[in-house]
Order: sequence, then structure tokens, then C-alpha cells
Amino acid sequence: MRKLVYYIAATLDGFIAGPDGADPTGPDGFWPIPDDYVQHLATEYPETLPAPAREALSVTAEGTHFDTVLEGRKSYEIGLDAGITDAYPHLRHLVFSTTLAESPDPAVELVTGDPVAKVRELKQEDGKDIWLIGGGELAGALYGEIDRLIVKLGPLTTGTGIPLFGRTAAFDPRVWNLTGHTVLDSGAAFLTYTRA
Ligand SMILES: NC(=O)c1ccc[n+]([C@@H]2O[C@H](COP(=O)([O-])OP(=O)(O)OC[C@H]3O[C@@H](n4cnc5c(N)ncnc54)[C@H](OP(=O)(O)O)[C@@H]3O)[C@@H](O)[C@H]2O)c1
Repeated sequence: MRKLVYYIAATLDGFIAGPDGADPTGPDGFWPIPDDYVQHLATEYPETLPAPAREALSVTAEGTHFDTVLEGRKSYEIGLDAGITDAYPHLRHLVFSTTLAESPDPAVELVTGDPVAKVRELKQEDGKDIWLIGGGELAGALYGEIDRLIVKLGPLTTGTGIPLFGRTAAFDPRVWNLTGHTVLDSGAAFLTYTRA
């Protein structure tokens, strides 16, 4: 059965973004993206690069990990505000929201119902794994369904921000087995954990 994988960049203190919910890697962001990081993504996870980045880097590879991406409405709207209605046209793209009336792009599937039920349905289908891009609130809602974590641990701390599983996640300790790791010279660590 295909897995739900929360593949996410986090600070050393467990935050995925600043408190304002903006894109931390954008032009006004605080999160440096070194060249070896971009190269690692392009080589190992090309499908996780948004379309403008794929184009800029001349990346056309399909990738081996994911064929589907799940996104919370607030994360999706960061691209939307920049005029990008589908940052991942090379993947099946689902956005979760109870407030959007319709999808801004015919290729993006709007899910208004229970994310857990939708993920269980997706897991029954054939295909590659399912990438949960975030943000924290959607990840918190899907916490119990996550089979694997790929944390792209950045060499920075922020003190506060949006936590890995959002601001309202319940206390629910789980143990994970380390099943892969790559440390880049620039300081980021790609840590893969599978649910024990
Ligand atoms: N570090 C990284 O790799 C990474 C990756 C992705 C995003 N981010 C960052 O994450 C931040 C946004 O995260 P966030 O936690 O604020 O928001 P989010 O999870 O992206 O979106 C939250 C929205 O998703 C919908 N949603 C969440 N749970 C739901 C549920 N159980 N049922 C139905 N809909 C649900 C709701 O939309 P409605 O209000 O419309 O119902 C909710 O307001 C941004 O700053 C972004 O840059 C970082």
C-alpha cells in the first residue's frame, strides 16, 4: 500500500515557518537555501520542486518518490498570491479547505471533507507514495496517518514559529525508526523516519 510521507523542511527547534505564515524561503524569507541543497533536491527529489524552480533548473525528471501532493489551504495560497494556481502540475495535487468555494485551477482537486478519510482512500489506490507538503495544521490533522517523515533539518533556529504539526496538535507521543540520512556540507540533514 502506498504511504503518506510528511516531507518537510524544519528548523533545529522544530518550526516549518515563521509566526506570520509567510514563505520562509521566499525573497523576503529568513531561511537560506544553499546550492548543494538545491542540487540535492534536483537529484534526489525532483518531483518536490515547484514548476518555476524545475523550469529554472531545467529539471524534467519525474522522480521516484511521489505522484501526489497534499496541501493545506494556507500553504496553497502562498503560491496563489504569487499568481501560481498549480505549483505542481507534474503531480496529482489536492488542496484541503473548508472555506474555498471552488478550486482556482481545474488540475487542483479541492477537498472539503475529512482529510483522514481522503488519505485512507488515496492509500488504497495504486501509485507512488503521497507527499504531505504541509503546512503544520494539515499535518496535525493527518498526524495518525503519517507513515514516514522526511525532515529536511535546516541549520537554523527561530525561537518560535509554526510547529511541525501546527499550533493545536494534541499530545500523542510516537516513536519513529531512523531509516535513512544524508548530511550536506552546508549543514542541512535529510532524516528519514519510518513509523515504528
Ligand atoms: N517548511 C516547509 O517545508 C513548509 C512546507 C509547506 C508549508 N510551509 C509553511 O507552512 C505555513 C502554513 O501552514 P499552516 O499550518 O498555517 O497552514 P496549512 O496547514 O497550510 O493550511 C491550513 C488550512 O488547511 C485547511 N485544513 C487544515 N486542517 C484541515 C482539516 N482537518 N479539515 C479541512 N481543512 C483543513 C484549513 O483551510 P480552511 O481554513 O480553508 O478550512 C486550514 O485553515 C506557511 O508559512 C508555509 O510557508 C512550510
